This record gives sequence, C-alpha cells and structure tokens, in this order.
Amino acid sequence: MSTYDTLSLAVGDDGVALLTLNRPDALNALNSTMMREFAEALDEATRAEARVLVLTGAGRAFAAGADIAEMRDRTFGDMTDADHLSLWERLAQLRIPTIGAVNGFALGGGCEIAMMCDVLIAGEGASFGQPEIALGIIPGIGGTQRLTRIVGKAQAMDLVLTGRRVDAAEAHRIGLVSRVVSDADVLDEALTAARKIAGFSARAVRAAKECVLRADQTPLSEGLLFERRWFHSLFAFADQTEGMSAFLDKRPARFTDG
Ligand code: HXC
Repeated sequence: MSTYDTLSLAVGDDGVALLTLNRPDALNALNSTMMREFAEALDEATRAEARVLVLTGAGRAFAAGADIAEMRDRTFGDMTDADHLSLWERLAQLRIPTIGAVNGFALGGGCEIAMMCDVLIAGEGASFGQPEIALGIIPGIGGTQRLTRIVGKAQAMDLVLTGRRVDAAEAHRIGLVSRVVSDADVLDEALTAARKIAGFSARAVRAAKECVLRADQTPLSEGLLFERRWFHSLFAFADQTEGMSAFLDKRPARFTDG
C-alpha cells in the first residue's frame, strides 16, 4: 500500500490495483496535488504489473469535481501555460482495464474521470452531473465529448446546459453506468469484477479493450477490420489453445499470458 497526500494505491497479488481518491473532507475535490499524485500512482500501478485498476473515492463522494477554491483565482494564462488538466487523461490512456466504483457524488471532473473508466459500477445513492455551467465554466476533461458519445446529444445537452444531477438509476437508464448495486456493495462488486478480468488472458483482455474503444474513433468498416485483425492475432498465442481446450475438457482454464 502506497499512501500519497491525496490518494492511496494498493496492488494485490491478484493483479488488482485499488486507487482511492482520499480528500474526503472536500468530497475528494480534484486539486493539482491530486492530479500529480494520480499520474504517479498510475505509473506505480503499471510498474507493479497491475492487470486491472479499480478507482474509487473515500467517504461520501467519488469526486465532487475540480477544486473550486484552488481554481477561483486562476487566470487564462495560468490555465493554459500549466495545461492544468492534461494529466487526468492518463487514466484514459491506460492499457489495462479500469473499473470505476462510484459511491456518492461524481460531479464535474469527478463525472469526467468516471467516464474515462472502462466499466462503471455505481451505488444506489450515487449521483452524476456536469454542474460547471453554474460556475461560469464548462466541463474540461471530456464532459462535453465523452458524455455525448456515451449518452447521445439529447441527454448530454440536458446535463451540460442545465447542470442537473442524475441519480444512479437514471445514469444506468441512459447508459452512463454499467451496473447499479447497493451502496455497501459497490467496492466488492468492482473488486470481484476486477479479479475476474485479471484471471483472463492479458492479451485477450487488451485486445477486447482496444477494440471496444476503437468503436468511438473509427467508421464501422475500419472498426470491424481492426476487430477482425485482433481476433485473428489471438490465435497466435497459447492462451487461445488453453481457453478452448479447457472448455472442451470441462475444466477451468489456466491462462499464462503466453
Ligand atoms: C472544492 C468542494 C468541492 C469542490 C465540495 N467541496 N465540492 N471544495 N471544490 N468541487 C467541499 C465544500 O466546500 C465543503 O467544504 C465540503 O466539501 C463538503 O461539501 P458541502 O457542499 O458542504 O456538502 P453538501 O451540502 O452535501 O453538498 C455536496 C455537493 C456540493 C452537492 C457535491 O459540495 C457541490 O455542489 N460541490 C461542487 C460541485 C461542482 O460544482 N463540481 C464541479 C467543479 S468544476 P467545507 O470546508 O465547507 O466543509 C469542475 C471542472 C472540471 O469539476 C475540470 C476538469 C478537472
């Protein structure tokens, strides 16, 4: 377990990394220390050869957005010179699957970070929103782009222009989250899913993630070709033979990442 000032990271023998945003008194508001430490923690998880990352928040929020107290007196020059938000994108660039375990508020930058995760598991009491408009700004790390791709223009415009919050049930209905479970079960559900994924062939998992993400970025014909090439490629590896042999032998597969 590594403890930073604003978050903690634990990487288990099962290959599951648990990264916890930890400024509960400020509802895990995202400040620049946390952004820097977040990038360091992702590097640490990569060095530790984590196979899946679970991201959650301590206390009653996943994250209530960028730290408004820190941002208030910033100027255009400050923001653009320091490129203050870029490090958060590192989450979206991770090659391993990421699971967001959302307890409580996921607002503003918190909702945007949640949307960078590959799978989102929310507690019944979770709420999501892009309230930046009420602060005289707009979302800055994907809230107009990822949200629109995920839920479509009608819902994205509603959320971004009115700043209204949606509860977990509505978030599920509009396709923003993968699963909703009781608040008490969010982290366990996420860790169980993470362990399951960590037990599969790492190459197949990587291929699956790359292909699904490709769907947002290419025309269908290119995406289908990309998928087909990956599908063919997996037959180069021992894990394919093992997975299929295990099925036919009626035994659990023993993937070796070979
Ligand atoms: C700084 C924050 C904060 C934030 C909460 N706090 N959100 N501090 N930045 N984003 C602090 C409060 O000031 C308060 O500190 C403590 O956390 C508890 O919050 P309360 O407001 O007292 O709790 P509650 O009444 O339950 O209301 C919860 C809430 C509200 C609805 C989530 O805190 C809220 O509206 N927060 C702001 C949400 C927001 O606008 N997010 C977008 C930010 S802009 P004290 O010291 O008083 O106890 C953004 C841009 C994205 O995210 C850019 C990319 C990163």
